[in-house]
Amino acid sequence: TTHTITVEPLGTELQCREDQSILDACLRNGVWLPHACTHGTCGTCKAEVLEGAIDYGDASPYALLESERAEGAALMCVATPREDVVIEGDVEIEEGITMYPVRDFSGTVAVLDEIAPDVRRLVVDLDEPMDFNAGQYVQLNLPDGDDRPYSIANAPHERGRVELHIKRTENGAATAGWVFDRLAVGDVVTLSGPYGKFYFRPDRDKPLLLLGSGTGLAPLVSILKTVMAIEDEDGEWEHEVVMYHGVALENGLYDREWFEQVADERDWFSYRPAVSREECDGRQGRVPALLTEDFPRAGGNVAYICGNPAMVEDTMRALMKARLFPRDIYREDFFDAA
Ligand code: FES
Repeated sequence: TTHTITVEPLGTELQCREDQSILDACLRNGVWLPHACTHGTCGTCKAEVLEGAIDYGDASPYALLESERAEGAALMCVATPREDVVIEGDVEIEEGITMYPVRDFSGTVAVLDEIAPDVRRLVVDLDEPMDFNAGQYVQLNLPDGDDRPYSIANAPHERGRVELHIKRTENGAATAGWVFDRLAVGDVVTLSGPYGKFYFRPDRDKPLLLLGSGTGLAPLVSILKTVMAIEDEDGEWEHEVVMYHGVALENGLYDREWFEQVADERDWFSYRPAVSREECDGRQGRVPALLTEDFPRAGGNVAYICGNPAMVEDTMRALMKARLFPRDIYREDFFDAA
């Protein structure tokens, strides 16, 4: 059974199955509603239901308060329609950015390497090319029917593949039993994407701070590679790009040699390890602390942050103290339930 969803204020009508989330139906029809976790826990996809009955799905009572629900709000990533529905959401239209509809993809595992302790690089050669913006993520389907979000680490011009950086988490359904044990080169995997509003705005025309921790580096690598492609195409890139990688131990600094080589070859790029539990290159500390040391004033930059919620929060705070304001900060909170 499908129902018609009308999305206000656009007035767009689209079809949604009873077993499909309203968010999924919107994204697959190119209607961009805000979203992050896609599992009913963060509240980013909250929208008003103006008309029609829905099933609220597995909405966390912390993400959707009882009082909000009483006033007609629902979480679009878990809500499914029971009849024709009219919603009003924070529909995003951003100038200069093309948002690509979400689609299903299949592909073959081309690379599966251990790049740091408990971190794997998974490269999937896609059967059909995917269009995405640097910084976005895919949902990788697990053998048990569930899925997990992973940021794409390659640049959008490499449309035929996706590179994902996957950390093993204890008891993680995706990682403990599958990516780290059974998955092998040559296997077929399926995924959907692109998702997310954490993407590079090349038009901002300012120096960049790329601030990642752990595998939160992945979308920032996509941004860096996009800048490199712009430089190749235009013959120049005129802004400084400073990338920090936060890890606990130095052996977690995956792809360090590659970043150092990029930094050697280009005077606009610098790579700064932020190792919290041991000294590295004469320094020690998390990203927010080293950032504060290096940038007592950060105004004039555009920052992209990706990591666990605590790292993102602390880094935001460090930037605001250094007088960089939210309009110049983009953030991706990594929900580490792999
Ligand atoms: Fe829906 Fe997080 S609660 S995207």
